[in-house]
Amino acid sequence: MSVVHQSRAVFRSTGVPVGVEVTGADISQGMDTETFRAIESVFNDNGVIFFRNQKLTPEQLLGFSRQFGTLEKHVRQEYALPGYPEIHLISNIKEGERSIGSAYAGDDWHTDLCFTRRPSRCSLLYAVEVPIRDGRVLGDTEFCSVAFAYDTLPDGMRQRLHGLRAIFQYHRAQERKRKQRVHDHPRPELTPEQKAATPDVTHPAVRAHPITGRKCLYVNQTYTFGIEGMDEEGAQPLLQQLYAHITRPRYVYRHKWQAGDVLIWDNCLTQHKAITDYALPQRRLMYRTSVEGTEPL
Ligand SMILES: [Fe+2]
Repeated sequence: MSVVHQSRAVFRSTGVPVGVEVTGADISQGMDTETFRAIESVFNDNGVIFFRNQKLTPEQLLGFSRQFGTLEKHVRQEYALPGYPEIHLISNIKEGERSIGSAYAGDDWHTDLCFTRRPSRCSLLYAVEVPIRDGRVLGDTEFCSVAFAYDTLPDGMRQRLHGLRAIFQYHRAQERKRKQRVHDHPRPELTPEQKAATPDVTHPAVRAHPITGRKCLYVNQTYTFGIEGMDEEGAQPLLQQLYAHITRPRYVYRHKWQAGDVLIWDNCLTQHKAITDYALPQRRLMYRTSVEGTEPL
């Protein structure tokens, strides 16, 4: 009998609308096309998948990430893993006074690179070091499904959102973050070049998933600062109402990290938020890659 080398991926839901654990797949060994397609299909439907106990070199992480598409380079290249411009470090570790990565990145609900014209399709995080205090792991990440959020909106609200475009402003979000973190992890001001590379953009407040066509709410409390053609008094209450609906706690999946986790989220189907309940000397180090996406429609 011939032996066919094929991993047998098994999928287990977290029990809320977002999050599926994949077992039976070793990313470092590569994957046959059939296994990858099965994993990708679950991913396109759910929006968050994760694997435990992986041991990857930067090259293996890049190889797996590239199966999802072309990789992007983050605008803050000072936080790239040296020698790997496509691996963005998310870390609170310091070398002298300087953070080696984006420290406490994403500690409000958001979706990655929504402030660009073509936001990334998905992001991968590989947990290298997780912060532990008194035997308890800190620095969880929460996820919610904006497809589920759209599906559960009242009809009247769906009609109200039809045709609206939301305004995304990276530099404003960065400035707010810089003021919040000025004491422990000061961030440099954006350079004129970084500012020029991230002008304000608008996207549909409801976008269709580029692969499945499923409708998703596409506003978030970190980067969305308004609705095109609507004044502040009209836009803010509407946005706040949507944020509260999107992030209803009973539908949130909270991921408890272990070193060796690889977790992937879809930036159209989901939003996420980092819990920053740790600080040095508890160290956190994540490698992140981002896969190119398409213009939201
Ligand atoms: Fe993020």
